[in-house]
Amino acid sequence: MLLGVIHALLASHISIPCMATQPESRQATFTAETRSPTQWNVELSTEWNVLGPFPIHAREQHFLSPSFPLNLSEPIDYSKTWPSAYADGGFVGWGTTNSDSSGLLHVAFPDIRWNYIRSTEGWAGLQHHAVLQGILTIYPPAGSSPELIISPPQIRVHLKQGSYFTILPFSDAQSGIIPEWYAGDIYAMERAIPRAVSLPSGPSTTSPTKYKILISGDYEIRLFGDPRARNSEIPVQEITVTAEVDSIYEDIIHEPAQDIVCDFIDGYAFGDSIGVGIRVTSGWWTVTKVSYKSDKVHKVIRLGLVRGTRIAPSQLRVIPITISQDGPYQHLVIEMEITLSSNEHSKVILISIPIKHYQTNMIPGPGTFKASYLFAESMPTVFLATPPLDKYIEPRPPILALHGAGVDIIGQPFWADALPRNKGRWIIMPTGRTSWGLDWHGPSAAEAWASVDALETMLSTHNRWNFPTLKSNTPVVVIGHSNGGQGAWYLASRFPDRVLGVVPAAGYIKSQSYVPLILSRAAHFSDPALRSVLESSLTPDDNDVHLSNLADIPVLAVHGGIDGNVPVWHSRELVGIVKTWASHANITLREDVGKNHWYPSVFDNPAVQAFLNDLPDHHQRPPKFTITVSEPQISGSLFGFSIVNLNVPGRISRLHIEIVGDLINIITSNVQTFSLALEYYDTTSLRFTVDGAPISMSTEVKDTEKALFFRDHQRTWQIVLHPTVSIQPPSRLQSILTSDGPIVLVVSDETQPREMSMALRIAHDLHLYHRLDAEILRKQEYADITPEDNSRVHRGNVVIIGTFSSPLVQRVLREGRTPFVSQHSRMLLNGLPYDYTKHATLFLHPHPTQVTAKILLLLYDDIPSLERGGRLFPIRTGVCVPAWLSIGPSADRIGAAGVNGAGVWGTNWSWSEISSWMP
Ligand SMILES: *[C@@H]1O[C@H](CO)[C@@H](O)[C@H](O)[C@H]1NC(C)=O
Ligand SMILES: *[C@@H]1O[C@H](CO)[C@@H](O)[C@H](O)[C@H]1NC(C)=O
Ligand SMILES: *[C@@H]1O[C@H](CO)[C@@H](O)[C@H](O)[C@H]1NC(C)=O
Repeated sequence: MLLGVIHALLASHISIPCMATQPESRQATFTAETRSPTQWNVELSTEWNVLGPFPIHAREQHFLSPSFPLNLSEPIDYSKTWPSAYADGGFVGWGTTNSDSSGLLHVAFPDIRWNYIRSTEGWAGLQHHAVLQGILTIYPPAGSSPELIISPPQIRVHLKQGSYFTILPFSDAQSGIIPEWYAGDIYAMERAIPRAVSLPSGPSTTSPTKYKILISGDYEIRLFGDPRARNSEIPVQEITVTAEVDSIYEDIIHEPAQDIVCDFIDGYAFGDSIGVGIRVTSGWWTVTKVSYKSDKVHKVIRLGLVRGTRIAPSQLRVIPITISQDGPYQHLVIEMEITLSSNEHSKVILISIPIKHYQTNMIPGPGTFKASYLFAESMPTVFLATPPLDKYIEPRPPILALHGAGVDIIGQPFWADALPRNKGRWIIMPTGRTSWGLDWHGPSAAEAWASVDALETMLSTHNRWNFPTLKSNTPVVVIGHSNGGQGAWYLASRFPDRVLGVVPAAGYIKSQSYVPLILSRAAHFSDPALRSVLESSLTPDDNDVHLSNLADIPVLAVHGGIDGNVPVWHSRELVGIVKTWASHANITLREDVGKNHWYPSVFDNPAVQAFLNDLPDHHQRPPKFTITVSEPQISGSLFGFSIVNLNVPGRISRLHIEIVGDLINIITSNVQTFSLALEYYDTTSLRFTVDGAPISMSTEVKDTEKALFFRDHQRTWQIVLHPTVSIQPPSRLQSILTSDGPIVLVVSDETQPREMSMALRIAHDLHLYHRLDAEILRKQEYADITPEDNSRVHRGNVVIIGTFSSPLVQRVLREGRTPFVSQHSRMLLNGLPYDYTKHATLFLHPHPTQVTAKILLLLYDDIPSLERGGRLFPIRTGVCVPAWLSIGPSADRIGAAGVNGAGVWGTNWSWSEISSWMP
C-alpha cells in the first residue's frame, strides 16, 4: 500500500473520452524545422486513443493479452465497440485523452456509474483494464551528422504505472509483426532507469518515421488508491510515458543512481561491499579488474572484484566490489578504476563514489547508519541500522522493521524517523530489495534475515566502533507498517522460532482479502478445479492459514480506526483467528480511534514501547501447539518442529503437538516427513506417539541434534538419524526469485533474437523490481560449464529459454528428473504424449549441482507463445503460477482459462495426480 498522501490529483485533469480519431489524421508537432542538426530525436504524441474499461482482477493482465480485447494480427478498428460489464448498455468504444508535457496521462472513464458498481462489488469493482494507443516519431539528424553512420539509434522508454507497452509499425499494412511487450515500471520504483526497446523496423535516415505505441493500463487499488481519498468516485490511472534516444558515443555508461555504498563511521566503512551500476549500450563487456585510485603513497582502502561480471548489450549490472581498510579514511569520495573488456578491446573507466561520514561521538548519540553486505553471494545490498541508545547495558534481541510499499528507506528519511530509538535493541531496517519488493516474501524475506545476519557478522568480525554486538542467529522482534505490517505477520508466522514478538501495524491479511478476485475474467471460462490448482500458488502467501504458528508469540497489532488504505477489519480478523487457535494467546489489538493509515504515533507511543520493553528474550514453550506449513523450504521451525515433506503438494500441512511430561503426542495432517531439533527438549526419557502409535527413539538418536520422522511404505512412522531426505520441490514458479547467486538466463544465441530479447527483458525486470542480478549466457556457454566450474553458474537459479527441440532443452529433458521427459524426440508428460503446439510451457526442474537451487524452463513453440510465457515469469506477487503450467493462444482473450494444464510436483519432483489439472 502506498501512503495515502502520495495521491493528490486535481479533478480538472480528468479528460472525458470522446470519439477516437484515426491516427493518420494527426499532425506531428515536432517539425523538420525544430529538428536537431546533429542528433536523432524521438517524440511521443500528446494525444492518445483509449479503449476501456474492462473488468479484471489484480494481476490478471499477466495472463490476458496486454492489448485485450484487440487482436493485433488484425487492423485496429477505431469505430468498433466491445463488451464490458462496467458500461451502461454493456459495450464500450474508443475515446481519447491527452498527456501533459511531462508525458503524464490521466486515464478515466467518468461515464461509468462507478458508485453503483462499487456499492455491490467494493474495491474489486474499480479494478479495470484499458488499452492506450499513441504515436512515437523518430527524427533523423537534419544535417549529415556522424550519428547517421551508426544507425538505427537505440530508443529507451520509461512507462511508469502502466503494465506493458509495445511499439508497432504505424501502418496496419505491416501487420504480421508479433508484438514484443515490455513490462512497465508499474510501481513507479525509486531510481528506475528506462528500458532499451527494439523497433519493428529501422527508422528512415532522411525523414521522420512514425510508429504506434500501445500501452496496457490496469487500475489497481494497490497502486492508485481509493478515488474517494481525493473526494472522487472515479478511478483514475496516472500513467507516465517518456522516450529518449540513447547515447551512441559511449558504449559503457555509469549509472550513479544504481550504485550501492555504505556509510563511513569514524573513518571505517560500515559494511564490506560497494556496488557500481554499469550499463552498456552495445557489445558484450566483462568487468575484469577494479582498483582503488589514489595519488597518495599510503593507501588505506583496498577494493576487490567479487567475480568477473559480464554485461550483455543494453543490460545494466551492479558490479560487486569488496572494500577493506588498513586505517581510517576521511575523504568524501572513493575513486576507482574499473577495467572492462570486450572481444575487441579493453577500456578503463574512472568512477567516483561519494560517501557519507559519521562520528560515534556525536550528540545525541549514534543515529541511523547505512550498512552494506553481499546478498546472495554477490549482490551488494544496503540496509539501515540504528544502534541501541544505551551502549552499556546488555544488548537485547534486535528489532527488525519492515517498511510499507512504495517507501524508499534509502532515499527518504521517513521510515527511519518514524521508529523511536530503543534503549537496548538495535533497529534493523532492510530494503526488502526495493520499496515494493515481493511484499516481504521470497527474496525480500530472505533479504530481511540476511540483513540481520550481516549486521551480526560485521559486529563480531570488525567492530571498530564498540557497538553492542548481536548473538549469532539471533531471534528478533518484527515490526512493520502497511505492506510491512503484512510482512511482519508473514515473517513471524513462517519463522516463529526466530521471532520473540510482533508489532504489525495496518497490515492486510493477504492479497485476495485486500482486493477480492471476484471480477476475474478467467473465472467465467474455467473449471473451478483448475482455479484451485492455480490459486494454490497463493497459499504460501496467505497469512491467515498460517496463524496457528503465532498462538504462543506475543503480538500487539496496531491499526487506525478509519484507515482508508488498509481497512481496520484486517487486523481485527487476524487477531480473531489467533484467538480461535488459542484463547490464551497473548495478542492485543490497539485500534487507534479516528486515525487513518499513517500517523506519527503508530509506533511512537507508550503502549508499543512498553510491549517492546516487556517482551521476554526467550520463548516459553506451551504444552500444546500446532505448526502450519505450506512451503517447507521457506519455512522455519516452531519449538523445534519442522515439516519437511508433504503428502499432497500445494496444500497446507500441520502437526498438532501435545506435551504431557516426557511424552510428546503428535497428530499429523498432510505430512510425509518432519523433523525435530532436539536442543529444545530434554531427551533423557523423551517418548513419542505419532498419529496414535508409540514410537521409540534409540540412544543414538538422542545424542544427535535433529531427529527425522518419516512414514515408511506401510504408512507407519519411523524415526531415523541420518536420513536421505527427498527435497520438497517449491510449489510455484515464484521460487525462482529466491536464489543463492545471480540468476542465470540461458538463451540459444543471436540467431534467436526473441530469446535474447526475452532474457534482456527479464534481466531488466529482475533489477527494477527486486534489484536481483542476472547473467545472460548463450546455450553453448552454459553447456560448456562442468559441474566443477563454479565461476559462471555459481549457486544461483537458472532460467532456460528455448524451444522443445533445442538441443540444450532436449539434453535437460532426457535426464528425466521431472515428469516432463523427452524420449526419442517426443515430449512426454507423466508418460503420456504431450502436445505443445502453440503453447508455452513453464516448469521448475532441479538444478544440476545445487540441492536448493532450481531451473525454470520457459519453453515455447512459436514467437506468440514465447511472449505469452514470458509474461508469466513471476516478477510480481499474486500471479498464480504453480510449479508447472502450459498456456495456449486462447489465454489472450480468456486469461488463465487458457491454461491447458497446471500442477505442483510431488516429493523428489514426482508427478502428483491430485495436485495437477489436465482437461
Ligand atoms: C487474431 O487474428 C488472426 C488473424 O485474423 C487470427 O488468425 C487469430 O486466430 C486471431 N486470434 C485470436 C485469439 O482470436
Ligand atoms: C504479553 O506480552 C507482553 C509483552 O511481552 C507482556 O508484557 C505481558 O506480560 C504478556 N501477557 C501475558 C498474559 O503473558
Ligand atoms: C529422486 O528421483 C531421482 C530420479 O528422478 C532418483 O534417481 C532418486 O533416487 C530419487 N531420490 C529419492 C530419495 O527417492
